[in-house]
Amino acid sequence: MAGKIPSRRLTGGFAVGATMLLSAATMATAGDASGDPLAQAVAKGASLFAHETFGGSGKTCETCHGGGGKVPGLLPNGRTLASLVNAAAIYPRFSRGAGQVITLEGQIRQCIQGGLAGAAPSAGSPDLVALAAYLGSIGHGQAIEIGGAPK
Ligand code: HEC
Repeated sequence: MAGKIPSRRLTGGFAVGATMLLSAATMATAGDASGDPLAQAVAKGASLFAHETFGGSGKTCETCHGGGGKVPGLLPNGRTLASLVNAAAIYPRFSRGAGQVITLEGQIRQCIQGGLAGAAPSAGSPDLVALAAYLGSIGHGQAIEIGGAPK
């Protein structure tokens, strides 16, 4: 009497390219900095983004990444750039400019040295953390593809 061999079916699997919606509840904006360390870092980062030249040629992040980085950027030479709304989700990534894989902080330092012609704060310093916190905050509430392309 031959037993029945149960057939096993593979169900499920992994959804590739799934998008993730970051909770709006974790949203921190530049306006609500009272007593919340993350909100304070975000507010500081927003201010640096708009005003700080890091001792360079007078440009700020805003010069090339207008609208606080939430809209497509525009270089002085007329070339357009993706916005920074998903920047926090897509690093580490390979940078053609650097010739290596860099973190978000590394990209920010690269823009300060190259774009602003300034002195980049070291990784982990309050200014760099604040800029990274600000860039993270502008992605909150957006549908984000982790590891996706700039948009
Ligand atoms: C002179 C123009 C210029 C300035 C000023 C500038 N950037 Fe950039 N930024 C670029 C360019 C060009 C790129 C595209 C990648 C590259 O070539 O390095 C870029 C890319 C980026 C990216 C990666 C975007 C992505 O989605 O891949 C981030 C993050 C970023 N910049 C942050 C900043 C911050 C923060 C500042 C201010 C400290 C700043 N940038 C100032 C020109 C600039």
